[in-house]
Amino acid sequence: MFAVHLLSFYFSKLKEDPTKKVDRFLHAMRLHDDQLKDISARFQAEMKKGLSADSNAAASVRMLPTYVRSTPDGTEKGEFVVLDLGGSAFKVLQVKVREGEGNRKGGVEMEEKTYPIPAEIRTGRGTDLLDHASESLKDFLQEKNISLEKKHPLAFTFSFPCEHSALDKALLLNWSKNYRAWGLLGKDVAQSLRQAIDRAGGMDVEILAVVNDTVATMMTCGFDDQYCDVGLIVGTGTNACYMEEMSHVDLVEGDEGRMCVNAEWAAFGDDGALSDYLTEFDREVDSASLNPGRHTFEKMVSGMFLGELVRLVVLKMAKQGRLFEGHVSDALRTTGTITTAHVASMEEYKNGLSNTRDVLTRLGLNPSSDDCIAVQHVSTIVSFRSSNLVAAALAAILARIRQNRNLRSLRVTVGVDGTVYKTHPQYPKRLHKVVRRLLPDCHVRFVLSDSGSSKGAALVAAVAQRLVARRRQVDAALAPFRLNHSQLQLVKARMRAGLEAGLRSNQSAMKMLPSFVYQMPDGTEHGKYLAFDLGGTNFRALLVKFKKGLQQNTRLYHKIYTIPLEIMQGTGEDLFDHLAECIGDFLDYMGIKNARLPAGFTFSFPCEQTSLNTGTLVNWTKGFKATDCEGHDVVNLLREAIKRRNEFDLDIVALVNDTVGTMMSCAYEDPQCEIGLIAGTGSNVCYMEEVKNIVKIQDPDKKGETEDGRNTEKMCINIEWGGLGDDGSLDDIITPYDTEVDQNSVHPGKQRFEKLTSGMYLGEVVRHVLLNLTRKGLLFRGHVSETLKTPGIFETKYLSQIERDRLALLQIRSILQQLGLHGTCDDSIIVKEVCAEVSRRAAQLCGAGMAAVVDKIRENRGLERLNTTVGVDGALYKLHPHFSIVLQETTRVLAPQCHVTFLPSEEGSGKGAALITAVAI
Ligand code: BG6
Ligand code: BG6
Ligand code: GLC
Ligand code: GLC
Repeated sequence: MFAVHLLSFYFSKLKEDPTKKVDRFLHAMRLHDDQLKDISARFQAEMKKGLSADSNAAASVRMLPTYVRSTPDGTEKGEFVVLDLGGSAFKVLQVKVREGEGNRKGGVEMEEKTYPIPAEIRTGRGTDLLDHASESLKDFLQEKNISLEKKHPLAFTFSFPCEHSALDKALLLNWSKNYRAWGLLGKDVAQSLRQAIDRAGGMDVEILAVVNDTVATMMTCGFDDQYCDVGLIVGTGTNACYMEEMSHVDLVEGDEGRMCVNAEWAAFGDDGALSDYLTEFDREVDSASLNPGRHTFEKMVSGMFLGELVRLVVLKMAKQGRLFEGHVSDALRTTGTITTAHVASMEEYKNGLSNTRDVLTRLGLNPSSDDCIAVQHVSTIVSFRSSNLVAAALAAILARIRQNRNLRSLRVTVGVDGTVYKTHPQYPKRLHKVVRRLLPDCHVRFVLSDSGSSKGAALVAAVAQRLVARRRQVDAALAPFRLNHSQLQLVKARMRAGLEAGLRSNQSAMKMLPSFVYQMPDGTEHGKYLAFDLGGTNFRALLVKFKKGLQQNTRLYHKIYTIPLEIMQGTGEDLFDHLAECIGDFLDYMGIKNARLPAGFTFSFPCEQTSLNTGTLVNWTKGFKATDCEGHDVVNLLREAIKRRNEFDLDIVALVNDTVGTMMSCAYEDPQCEIGLIAGTGSNVCYMEEVKNIVKIQDPDKKGETEDGRNTEKMCINIEWGGLGDDGSLDDIITPYDTEVDQNSVHPGKQRFEKLTSGMYLGEVVRHVLLNLTRKGLLFRGHVSETLKTPGIFETKYLSQIERDRLALLQIRSILQQLGLHGTCDDSIIVKEVCAEVSRRAAQLCGAGMAAVVDKIRENRGLERLNTTVGVDGALYKLHPHFSIVLQETTRVLAPQCHVTFLPSEEGSGKGAALITAVAI
């Protein structure tokens, strides 16, 4: 009995199944489904980390946004050259894509050539690597007789981790696989390639897109299969990309649609997330690699490392006497002597064992049959682990897509490429089987990319080309709004000429209206005054109480009244009756109906004054056109309306333009203030002019004397600068959009400068640009909505909101939605750009005008330098996020000898009108 046992023990030892021996030795590499599910869950967590803005920087799986927003839809077309760098071969290609014809129908034609890249170039200077690529491109074009003069759009398949900020802006994060060229990390790969192509010379190339190989593979396969939302590479390296919901891509603004995310899963485990799955062989492979400590997952999975893993296992087993009777050859000790191609051949269906023998014999070994079986099994375990790990990570991606789309079962296609997947006989089957086992309720199709990733890269370039064309058209539409320095100088010069002309005659475009205000407040003003303020956004009635020498103790009570459009544009009688009614209401409200207080009337329209309290309305501006007012004294019109009402009486002492009221109001705080600017519904300026310069006033009484007979040197002139250009002097900068706005305005042909600069019109200019862009199909998917056709939808307040710097695209979109404009986030970007161009031009033009005014004051006084203050009011100035900054900057640049302080008015020009009244009586 004992002898039998001994014998069977002897035989079992002798005949031990060689695969069992290997199974035991490599048990840590044999992953069962629970472990794969665990790895899959870990990868899910890594993906979340990488997508979130808070944790992305620290995440090892970077989940890089690619700016590829859609898979092919059949509308792509064009001829492209493609450089394909980073896989086992470097290729140059020409790809021709015909619109609307799928791949199978021959929609794509390709020519390609592979160029070797020597190791010293892969690991040498980055510029040399790109020079090599550019020279290869040139050689390719010459060899294939492709014109060098023609402009060639180019896509660059660059199979390394890049941080994109656009399709053609990609910063290289790190090298991987067998590349480690220096000097390119952190640089924009597209820009570096552009420079290399320039160095090569003689080619006209436009780089449109830098594309990871996973993305290009997904696009290639997506050309024929609309369900292809995932790209997978198991080649020299390994990686995957997939279409993620934009709302989850924190690193890119916008929430609409999807964007392809390059997972860069090679780095899974770099933070230790896989340390319990790593074997001593993995650690050895890592420490001998070009990038130790990085790309942990890739080193367990990809073609560059599989052969080496097998070699290390076989070497160790041999050293321990488990193989080759303990014999170890020099070749077996040498790095790189077993390759992935060997692994694939050893696992071939019929010839696997004899291939294994060949491989081992070539390594100087003398394997027994059991040795061959054992080594083949090592190979199987190593490559099986690889496909299992890929299956686990891929399952995590697929589960995420399913969850994103809220589906119970997902139908999806995975586009695949890479030498391991393509050449290893068992790999695809094993991978597919495990993925399906891990996700039994998903219908997953795997499609091998038939022609590498270049076709996909060309498709990305085709989309990019469309975007570039759109960008160019938008730029061209906006170009007329961009004024250069010399244009602004010209505007300044024309404004200056207009000031002089207006002082000489009443016939000029800018009216230069004398205000009969000679003096600034001096702080001695006191008493109670009324003021009424018509012409801005609202009508205001005010009661102002001044205390002598105590500016800060001024008390102001007011009430705001809206003026309905039908009153603005009805009869003059109705308009002034309405004002009288509002005034009556205010006096009641304040309990001062019987007080007969002195009043100032801010009337923000051009009035020809013959004294402080008389003024003929020259013409209406802005949105007013009440009948029977032009040519009449507006103070009289108000007095008559008050008389008609017969409820109260007033003593109207001063008629004041809002610019003048604003200047006075600010001068009360800052004695240096001698200019008033309104950048609101309308646009206008007043300033203190030397009386001797007001040539058009002939009457010496009117010229130099105040009503109490004092001689004065200066008088405030209301420029009415909104009229600049009414004589055609701005025609060279007026755009077709401005002309449209003008022609559809209440006063066509009038106030041309105001129509370029003030709140009442900027929104309309924007709307006309948007209409034009939409009609060209560049916005709102070419759909011209009724809203967009509606005049006046864009009020200044919306412009101000849309242009706020920190406003997310989502918020802009919701503002547009409130306005009834439903667009994408891309549309929001363009709308914001249009608003910015239009308002920037407005601010620059006002700056150029202001430069003319301050320089004139400086020259009037024969000063080398002028220090002065401008009192400012108006919603555009106060609410717009950039207007005031651009205005001030332009004034500074165009009037370098003047130091101009802009002081926003605190209380509106009504207070100024009250002050003028106080000074006058
Ligand atoms: C090819 C692509 O088809 O697949 C390459 O064109 C890519 O850019 C490659 O890197 C991956 O496979 P491998 O095995 O060549 O690294
Ligand atoms: C106010 C003045 O302060 O500013 C108004 O009191 C003036 O008279 C206005 O017209 C300009 O601003 P907006 O933006 O209301 O036209
Ligand atoms: C490496 C690169 C990655 C690429 C992959 C497959 O992992 O980092 O960008 O996709 O190899 O080539
Ligand atoms: C219009 C008026 C002008 C006023 C300006 C600002 O340009 O014509 O008088 O100052 O608007 O309200």
